[in-house]
Parts: sequence; C-alpha cells; structure tokens
Amino acid sequence: MAEGKALEGKMLVLGVTGSIAAYKAALLARLLMEQGAGVYVIMTHSATKFVTPLTFQALTGNPVLVDMFTPQTPWQIDHVYLGAKADLVIVAPCTANIIAKIAYGLAEDMVTVTVMATKAPVIIAPAMEVNMYQNPVVQENIAKLKKLGYHFVGPETGRLATGREGEGRLSEPEKIVARALEVIGRSRKLPPPRK
Ligand SMILES: Cc1cc2nc3c(=O)[nH]c(=O)nc-3n(C[C@H](O)[C@H](O)[C@H](O)COP(=O)(O)O)c2cc1C
Repeated sequence: MAEGKALEGKMLVLGVTGSIAAYKAALLARLLMEQGAGVYVIMTHSATKFVTPLTFQALTGNPVLVDMFTPQTPWQIDHVYLGAKADLVIVAPCTANIIAKIAYGLAEDMVTVTVMATKAPVIIAPAMEVNMYQNPVVQENIAKLKKLGYHFVGPETGRLATGREGEGRLSEPEKIVARALEVIGRSRKLPPPRK
C-alpha cells in the first residue's frame, strides 16, 4: 500500500515578511502542499511590496490575510482562528524586524499577532543582509527565541541579494520543508495535555 504524504491532514500557516527573499515563499507554499498540507498564507504589509497576495492565493486556493482589521473570511477573528487551528506556523522569510517583534511579544501585524495567538510550534527562517544578521541585537533576539522553544532553520552562508557573500541567505525551500517534517514529527511525540 502506498504511504500517505508526510503532511496529509495538517494545517500550516506560512507567514511571509518584507524580505527580498519573499519570492521563495511561493515555492515553499507549493512544496508544503505537495506534502499534503493545507497552507494558509499571512503576510506583513511590507511583504506585499515584494510579492503579491494574489500569487499565494492562486497557489494555495486559500484566502491570504494581510490586514488584521479587514476580515476576509467567515471566521470570527482570523488570527485567533488560524492560531488555534494551525499544526505548525512557519515564518519564511523572516525579517530582523519580525524576529525582534516576536522576541518582545509585539502583535501589531497579521504575522506577529498570529504567532502570539498560537500554541503550535513555530519555525523561523531568517533572511537578511549579513551586517543585519550579525548585529548583536538580532543575535540576542534569536538566542532568546531559541531558548523559548522557537525552531530555526538557517540562515545560510552564500551570495546575498546585495551581491555580497555572507551569512543571511534564506534556506532553500526544500530545507525548510525538511525542518517542518522534523518539527511536526517532534511535536507529535509530545505527551497529551494534562486533563
Ligand atoms: C529592497 C529591500 C530588501 C529588503 N530585504 C530585507 C531582508 O532580506 N531582510 C530584512 O530583515 N529586511 C529587509 N528589508 C527591510 C525590511 O523590508 C523592513 O525592515 C521592513 O520594515 C520589514 O517589515 P516587516 O518586518 O513588517 O515585514 C529590505 C528592504 C528593502 C527596501
């Protein structure tokens, strides 16, 4: 008998933020769906400067949520619904700005408000210019989030959008999918909640 797809029946929320690497999130959404997941994309307003919500809507067949004050679904409150239903939240690419907001519990855009509202595991895939990535404040925020149980993938060392070589390149979508499978596998092994 053929084995089921690894993410069959899973509801994934993909947060896309304002990085030059945002275009790679389209392939990521596609790959996650190929693994059987239902994918809901949420975006910051900055992210829409790099790639349009329509791209993700067409790829996923689901509404794409950008403005938390403009509900687009029959759900009572979009971010609360998504946060509660998600099996996994992936923020890819994740800007320095969103890393900082999550680290400080800010919830003022569709991505951070959903991250705050979920108990699902969260994977962060940072993408930024090398000096930004090496900035001690960014490093401190990442260290804090890791300590709090947020999962990270990348960034990689390589050619950046500026043409420079260095740390800060978004991990390839295939690597992010592999991390998602790992984390979902791990989250399944958690003991059931106490009654
Ligand atoms: C062309 C361009 C590319 C950018 N790429 C990145 C990036 O890769 N990573 C990053 O952290 N910020 C990047 N920025 C800066 C962010 O877009 C900016 O900090 C923005 O406020 C982030 O908004 P958000 O975090 O709400 O999505 C870039 C800005 C421009 C103009």
